[in-house]
Parts: sequence; C-alpha cells; structure tokens
Amino acid sequence: MKRTRSIFLLLLTFMLIFTGCIPRQEQQNIPDRAKYKNADLPIEERINDLFSYMTLEEKVAQMAQVANYAASPSDVTDKGLGSILSGGSDGPYSGFKPENWLEFCNEYQKAALESRLGIPILYGIDAVHGHAKAVGATVFPHNIGLGAANDPGLMEKIGRITAVEVSASGINWNFSPCVAVARDIRWGRTYESFGETPDIVSPLGAAYIRGLQAGGLGKRDSVAACVKHYFGDGAAEWGTGIDGGIDQGDSKATDEEMRTIHLAPYIEAVKQNPATIMISFSGIRGEEMHGNKKWIDILRNELGFDGLIVSDWAGHKQLNGSNILAQSINAGIDMIMIPDTFDSFILEVSQNVRDGIISEERINEAVRRILKLKFEMGLFENPLADGTLLSSVGTDESMKTAREAVRKSLVLLKNNKNALPLSEDDPVAVIGTKSKDMGVMCGGWTVYWGGYSMHEKLRGWLDDNSQKIKAQNMFVKGTTILDSLTERLGEDKISYSDNGENTGPAKKSIVVIGEVPYVEFTGDSNDLGISEEDVARVKNARSKGTQVIAVIISGRPLIITEIEPYCDAIVAAWLPGSMAGPGITDALYGDHDFTGKLSFTWPRSMKDIPFKESTKGMYPRGYGLQMKSE
Ligand code: BGC
Ligand code: BGC
Repeated sequence: MKRTRSIFLLLLTFMLIFTGCIPRQEQQNIPDRAKYKNADLPIEERINDLFSYMTLEEKVAQMAQVANYAASPSDVTDKGLGSILSGGSDGPYSGFKPENWLEFCNEYQKAALESRLGIPILYGIDAVHGHAKAVGATVFPHNIGLGAANDPGLMEKIGRITAVEVSASGINWNFSPCVAVARDIRWGRTYESFGETPDIVSPLGAAYIRGLQAGGLGKRDSVAACVKHYFGDGAAEWGTGIDGGIDQGDSKATDEEMRTIHLAPYIEAVKQNPATIMISFSGIRGEEMHGNKKWIDILRNELGFDGLIVSDWAGHKQLNGSNILAQSINAGIDMIMIPDTFDSFILEVSQNVRDGIISEERINEAVRRILKLKFEMGLFENPLADGTLLSSVGTDESMKTAREAVRKSLVLLKNNKNALPLSEDDPVAVIGTKSKDMGVMCGGWTVYWGGYSMHEKLRGWLDDNSQKIKAQNMFVKGTTILDSLTERLGEDKISYSDNGENTGPAKKSIVVIGEVPYVEFTGDSNDLGISEEDVARVKNARSKGTQVIAVIISGRPLIITEIEPYCDAIVAAWLPGSMAGPGITDALYGDHDFTGKLSFTWPRSMKDIPFKESTKGMYPRGYGLQMKSE
C-alpha cells in the first residue's frame, strides 16, 4: 500500500515536472471537523490547527488586500484572498444603497467560505465621516469640525452610529479614525485632522475607536477600527509631496518633535486596543514609512500594539530599490493594500520566502495576526450580515446626533452689532449656490473619493462625479442650509440669489461661501483665499445695505482678510454633512449658543502658514465667540 503510494507520488512529480508545474507544497485534505472550525476551542489552538493546513501561497494570499474592481468573488474563492476593499469611488455595481452593499459584500464573503480553507474575508471601506458611501446613511461633520466641537462623548457616539451603519451593509472594517496632527493647512487632508495639536487629536481619536469597537470585536454591530496614517502624515512639508505639494511628502522634523506631536495620538489610540493601524504614505527625513522598520518596531515594542498593520493604497510603491513588497513586509507590515495585481503579489512574495528574502517567521507572524482578528471578530461563526441592521441606517435618532455635532462644531469668529442671533420675525436673504449644495457641505470622501457638487464646479473630476451621482441617484440624505432656513421661516420670508444681487426686503443676508470638495493631494493648495465669486457675493450683499452673516463651508481655515470688513458676523462651519442645515440654523437663531473653538490657528495671510508655536494668526487656536457675551 505504502509502496504504491510512493510510486504514485514519484510519477506525479515527474508528470508535473514535464508539464512545467511543480506543486510547491502538498495540500492536505481538510476534515469536516477540523479543529479550527470548532468555536469552543481557544483561538490560539484554532490558529495552530488552521496553520497546519496552509500552504505558503495560501498564507501569502491572506496578506493580500485587493480592490473590489480587481478581484471578483470567484478570485476570492480560487486564491483565498485575505481581504477586499472598496476604495474612495468603488463599490457595488448595482448602486450604493445599504442593501446593495449588503448583497455585494455577502457575495464576497460567501465566495471566501467556498475557498479551500473557508477563511472569511475582512471587507474594508473609508467611512471617515459616517458611512458616506451608503445612500441614506448619516453623514457627520469631517474631523476638523469635530475637533472644534472637542467633545469625546459625542465622538464615541459618532463612532458607534458609524459602526452600526457600516455593519448593516455587511462591511466589517473601517479605515478610520485619522489621527493626523496637521501642521500645514495647505495640505488637502487637513479636514481629516481633528486639530493642529495632539491634546485635541488624542482623546477624540481614542473615543472614536471605543465607539467603533464597543462591546468587543465579536459583536455584530462592531467594526474593526483602523487608526491612520502611522505616522507623521500631518508633518509633511510643502514641496516634498505629489506635484510639489504636501500629500505623501516628507518631514524634516527631529525624532523628538515626531514623538511629542505626531506619535502622541497613537499612544492614546493603542490603549483602546484598535484592531488595526494603517501605515502612512509619508516619510521622515527621507525614510519612507512603508519601509520604516525603526518606527514600526517602536509601535510594536514601545507602544505595545499587537494588532494588524496594513499598508496604504499601493504604499509599497513609495519605496525604491528591488523587492519593495518584501521591504514593506520585512519592515513589519502584515497586510498589503496591493490594490490590484494580486496574482503577481502572491507569486512574488512566495518566491521571496523561498529565496530567503522574507523569513517564514515573518510571514507566519503576519498571517497569525490576520487570522487572530478574524477569529476574534467571530467571522468564522457569523460571516454574513443578515439584514436585520438595515433599518438602523440613517435613523432620526442618528440624524439628531449629527445635528448636535454640527451645532457644536460651528465656530463664531465675529459678531458685531448683534448681527446674531437672527429673529424669526425678520425676512433674510440667502446668498450663494453653496447654501443648497449638499455635496459641498459634505466635502471629500462622500459617495465618491473626491466628493461631488451639484451647483458649483471648479474641477473637471467634480463635474464628472456630479454627473454620475445625478445619473445614479446617489445623493446624501440630509437638509441643506437653504432648505432648513426655508422650513423655519417659510418661503415668503426668504430671498434667495446665487450672487447676492437680490436681497429683497431683508435687512440681513446669510452668505454661504467657501471651498468645493477635494481629497488627498487634489486638495493641496498654496492659495487659501476666498474665490472671486464668493468675494463678490459678500460685497454685493453689503452694497444692498444688508448686514452680512458669512457662513464659511471649508475643509480648513481660509484667508478672509478681503471679506472680513464687509461682514458683521462670520461663522466657520467646516464640512458639516447631512445635518448641515438644521445644525447651522439652530445656532443662527440662538436655540443653542455657539460653543465651538478653533482647533487650528486661523491665519491672517499665507505667511502665517505653516503653523509655528509663535504664530498668532487672525484668530488663535481656542478662539470662538458666544452670542450672549456680545
Ligand atoms: C488613503 C487612505 C485610505 C485608502 C483606501 C488611500 O489613498 O490614503 O486614507 O484608507 O486610500 O481608500
Ligand atoms: C484612494 C482610493 C481611490 C483611488 C483612486 C486612492 O489613493 O484612496 O480610495 O479610489 O486612489 O485612484
């Protein structure tokens, strides 16, 4: 019997040599009652058992995170891929309703269960200000606004709601929170940062992680958090990034500065046991983070993080030289957001192991972490979302929290001659297309990577996104500023105009100005002035003899010296999201006084940027008026 078997194996080997396909490792059959499938056993034992069946290629495939457009469900079955993500603009082809997501992600999950080992996948998405790629979901203010609100309790609630809405859609991993300490507001990701100092960033990041993972990772409505981008993304300097901007650039800061300012939020974050951390596209004094073993070791050994480390989108390509995947993996990255060429990834990394460029121990360590997370999340037992949470998406209750977040995020910069609060008895003029543009109020990372805008388009790709949104009916649920004011006062009392040339009988004008959506490097800008059209709006409103209340919708402080003399009141509203209208209206009418304080210094001119401790600016960090004190 034994003899026949060895003859057979010998023959098989010959056959395979002659057909040019040598099996690298024998695949063992997996018994139905394999120990790793037994939920009663300790996780460690289950991992050990699963490991005993895994070939090298299967281990490497677990380390692959692939974009949904690059891998079909059957690729997941065939290769046993570890994770799928939907990037900024990607998702189900049937539409972005939560039920489309649910069906789409479940299809991938089912495909994973049909793979040889039946290991479930992690499915990742950027729900960075609520689940903003699901139609009808609650879209919260971007982080810069939440930094001005500076309310950890609220932050935790936002994390919780986001986790519920994301899980409802069959997604189990959220690439959030971003704990960047942005030091140069010319950076296109400034709005993803809670503030320019760690004392604001650290507690808010920690609170949000608690919200996302509340009740433990095994809970059906919990998702794995992903603290990003480790680290120093907010330290990169102008001129070192993409196209001479900041994003993905380099920092000259000393190690000490890097520690006190940029490492600090990770120290707090790690205490909350976040499931994962994402590596930054940036570098420190020429050393790219994607190959930076020194700082990744600090994260492991000094901060004590033992969760999964994932790369950013093709982040290994920041590196030079040969074997850049191996460089990243050897630096300590466990999973690679490839995002597309998974076949060559599996081939190359497996070959690297055979050639001794990556040790087997390193692969085992990475894969153990990935499997551990999947076991801890209960994915082997409960891999599929069942739709029971769908009714929890975008509820009135969640919208109430969003409204509170908007209201608390508003910073009153100026209020002369009791311009605010407004009175319901008086008619008002509402000026500017941004007042009715939900896409503008939400900013980037909303439906599409770079967001959308229905009324004010300054960029080609924004136009393109907006058309797709229109065609596919994928708008964000919420209420614009114009709609809220109209609801509150009745149409008769509102005079709307695009440019401020018609203020009707109003004595006060609400002029909504600011930025149009952008994302990552597309938002890097060396000119943070107000656009000509917006300046004209303010000046027109003033020339009609009305008091001007400027509401600025923006992802960062803007240079407002040109308009400030024409404004009686100025409100920084950041990127408020779904409840922009109600939250702003609540404050303008004095239902709640303003409580938001600047988490970034507001510069007087571009010369005040980047931020230094000595910068005074136009309004200092911590500044924010109240109406009652006026
Ligand atoms: C961004 C990350 C994001 C990832 C996935 C990258 O370009 O830097 O913040 O999580 O894409 O969309
Ligand atoms: C983003 C992805 C996005 C892609 C578009 C990446 O940097 O993070 O989410 O879809 O770029 O090219």
